[in-house]
This record gives sequence, C-alpha cells and structure tokens, in this order.
Amino acid sequence: MIKSLKNQLVLALGLLVTVIGVVQGVSSYQLSKTGMSALLDMRLEQVAARLRDGLAESLPKNPARGTQDERDVVAVVWKPGQDVPFRTTDPSLHFPRDAQPGFSGAEFNGEHWRIFTRQEPTMTIQVAQRSSIRREITQEAATQTLWPIAVLLPLVWIAVALVVRRSLRQLNELGAEVSAIDMGHLQPLSTVGVPTEIEPFIHSINTMIERLASSIEKERKFIADAAHELRTPLTALQLQADNLAPHIYPGNQERFQELRKGIARSGKLITQLLRLARADAPMNGSPLARVDLSEVVTGAVADVLPIALARGMDIGAEEMVNAHVRAVETDIGMAVKNLVSNAVRYTPDGGTIDLHMRRDGDMVWIDVIDTGPGIDETLLPRVFDRFFRANPDVEGSGLGLSIVKAIAARYGGDVTLKNRSDGRSGIVASIGFPVEEVKENTVALALNL
Ligand SMILES: Nc1ncnc2c1ncn2[C@@H]1O[C@H](COP(=O)(O)OP(=O)(O)OP(=O)(O)O)[C@@H](O)[C@H]1O
Ligand SMILES: [Mg+2]
Repeated sequence: MIKSLKNQLVLALGLLVTVIGVVQGVSSYQLSKTGMSALLDMRLEQVAARLRDGLAESLPKNPARGTQDERDVVAVVWKPGQDVPFRTTDPSLHFPRDAQPGFSGAEFNGEHWRIFTRQEPTMTIQVAQRSSIRREITQEAATQTLWPIAVLLPLVWIAVALVVRRSLRQLNELGAEVSAIDMGHLQPLSTVGVPTEIEPFIHSINTMIERLASSIEKERKFIADAAHELRTPLTALQLQADNLAPHIYPGNQERFQELRKGIARSGKLITQLLRLARADAPMNGSPLARVDLSEVVTGAVADVLPIALARGMDIGAEEMVNAHVRAVETDIGMAVKNLVSNAVRYTPDGGTIDLHMRRDGDMVWIDVIDTGPGIDETLLPRVFDRFFRANPDVEGSGLGLSIVKAIAARYGGDVTLKNRSDGRSGIVASIGFPVEEVKENTVALALNL
C-alpha cells in the first residue's frame, strides 16, 4: 500500500486521466475508421455517377496493361446485350455483371473487393476497390487521431504530479514549522495564506500549543512559588545556626560546620531555582535597556577577580567589540557571569581564563575559554539539562547552564559549550545575542538634542 498521500493522489489522478484517454482514443479510432469507410464508399458512388454522366465514353477501349495502380478504383461499364464489358479500366477483372445494385463484396484472384453496382437502363456501372487497400487507408487515418492523445497523456501525468506536489508543499512546510517549534517560545502557527482544508488542523495544533504553554507556565510558577516559600524558613534556619555556633562543644564543631554548609548549599540551590524560574518566565513588559556588552564582560571579570587571584589564576578580557543588546541588564550580566564562574570553578589553581568578543553577522558572541579538564564528549550534549553535573567532585547545583540557555533563548540568542580544539584541554563556552543596530538617523536625532 502506498503511504504517501502525494503518490496516492498522483497515481489516482494519473490512472483516471489514462483511462479517459484510452476510452477516448479507442472511440475516436473506431469513429474515424467508420467515417473513412463511408467516405471511400461515397467516392465509389461518385465515380459511378460520373461514368453515367458521360465519362464512360471517354475511357480508353483497351487500357494498357499495368497502367492501373493497385490503390486505384476499378471501373467496369456494361452495355445491355453485350457479353464483354463496354469499358473497363482493368480487363483482367470480371465482376459479376448481375450483382445486386448498391454495395456488395466479392472475391477475385484471392483478393476481396468492395463493389458498387449501378443499374441504368442504358448501362450497368460497377466501381470497385480492394478491401485490403481500404483497410490500409482507414487504419492510417484512424491512427492519425491517436497521436494527440499519445503525446498528451505523459504531459498530463507530469502536470498532475506538479500540481499535486505544489498543493502538498504547504503541508510539508507546516510539518517543518511544527517540528521547529521552540519549546522556550511557544508561539501559535500563522493561518495566513493557508488552504481552508488545512486550517482546522492548524487550529487544533494552536489549541494544543496554548494548553502546553499554560501547563509549562503553571509548572514554572509552582517552582518559583515553592523556591520563594522555602527561602524564608531557610534564612531563619541559617540565622538560628549562626546564633548557635558559639554554644556548640568543640568536639561537635566539625559536624556542626557540615550542617551549616548543608544549609548554605540548600540556600544556593533555592536561589538558582528562583533564577531559573525567572529566566523561563515570559517577559511581560520588563523594562528593556541598551546593554553595552563590553561593560558586561569587564563586570563579570571584575566579579570573579578576587577568587581568581587568590587561586593564582590568570583571567583577562581581550578583543573587545563595541556592541549593544536590547535586554534587561541583569539578565545578560547573570548569563555571562554564570559562564565565567563555571570557568573559574572547574579550572584548577594556576589556570588561565580568556574572554573574547566577536561579531558574526548580526550576532555578537562572547567566548569564555579556560584551561580546565574539559568535559567528556559523551556528556557534553547533556550539560544544558537541569540538575546535570558532569563533575560531582566540585560543588554546584547543576542549574547554571540551564539559566544561561533560558536567558539566551529569551533574547533570540544561543549558547554553546565545546572542548577546546587547539590541542589544549579546557572548555570554550560561547554565548551570542542579536546586536541592536542603531539607525543612523536615530543617532543624528540624539546628537541634535
Ligand atoms: N568550564 C567548565 N569546565 C568543565 N566542566 C564544566 C564547565 N562548565 C560547566 N561544566 C560542567 O557542566 C555541569 C553543569 O554546569 P552548570 O553551570 O549548569 O551547573 P553547576 O556549575 O554544577 O551548578 P550551578 O548551578 O551552581 O552553576 C557542571 O556540573 C560541570 O560538570
Ligand atoms: Mg555553573
């Protein structure tokens, strides 16, 4: 069974057209044969009429043998009371003189003839033609009628295939659009220019997208609320622990410090959860500003500088590019800081961290390159998953890169993480945003003011 709708349609329409073509061909072939036969009969009748009207006398008495072409009609004229024909165009042929008037058939010298006999008071006229020649002529004429159909049929098949392909292209485009739906930005599909048959389909998909978006939003809100609610008791717990610290026996201090670290870890996890829920949230009219990316880069370096220096690391930003992004400033800062703090966290003491900026078309990219251990290639595709941690020896919640990804997606940007390809071990973490181009007249307007 053919699964493709396109092939089914092409086959069905093509076969239909072929059947119509064949039926039409057969009937026009038959009609043309009958018509030609009637024409040939009419010619025999006309010749007989001309012979009656005096042409018989002008025929030669003794025609030379072999002058008659076998395609020609043969005419024989009898006068009453004479045993031999008065005139004949082929003396070797003797048709039965008493044949019934009108059309008849007879066999002579192994050939079949169609004969028209006209009985007049003064003469009997017979005009005949070989049946094989008549067949040849009628078939030739009938075959001519088949040419247009024979040429048109393949052309119609091609036309059917093209029309069906063109009509179904929109279905393919719709399929591509559905599979390209970004889960981070669930947008309804457009119904503009869509055929009416496909519209209900799109409406169903859009209803599904709406439901999906609302359930994702509910889940996000639940996480945000839960993290928010947990923060207060956890802060209280931390305060209690701080107050208790001086009253703990020295013998229990080590275990008590573990408890405090655990509380601090939970606090960080809750903070990260809240940040992720906020990065995932729809923008809802948050005020956007023109963010200078080079300032964000220097700010991120300055933030980690004390820790980096304490661990003997060399951290610096080079190749700065003048580029701006339209965004909430804290979002961009948080994304870049997450990448830089990962580089510091996972690179051993004494390592190097370089930050670069580069323009690529209408995007601006920030690369954070470290000299750490890198990440196993098999684990790399999972680093943006929530709670995924490739290196459990180092403390972390596994949410930082998910937050970065959500922020990049929010502004139409992207983030990638790769192992270095220059032969050294380490990670190249890159985040890119669409550049906000300032139109020249806007600049001029601003200068005038
Ligand atoms: N520069 C890097 N070098 C080596 N491994 C890295 C680097 N950046 C990220 N990783 C790996 O990817 C994992 C996920 O990183 P992610 O930032 O999402 O979480 P995290 O750093 O563990 O926790 P946090 O939520 O505090 O950022 C990390 O646990 C680490 O194993
Ligand atoms: Mg991290």
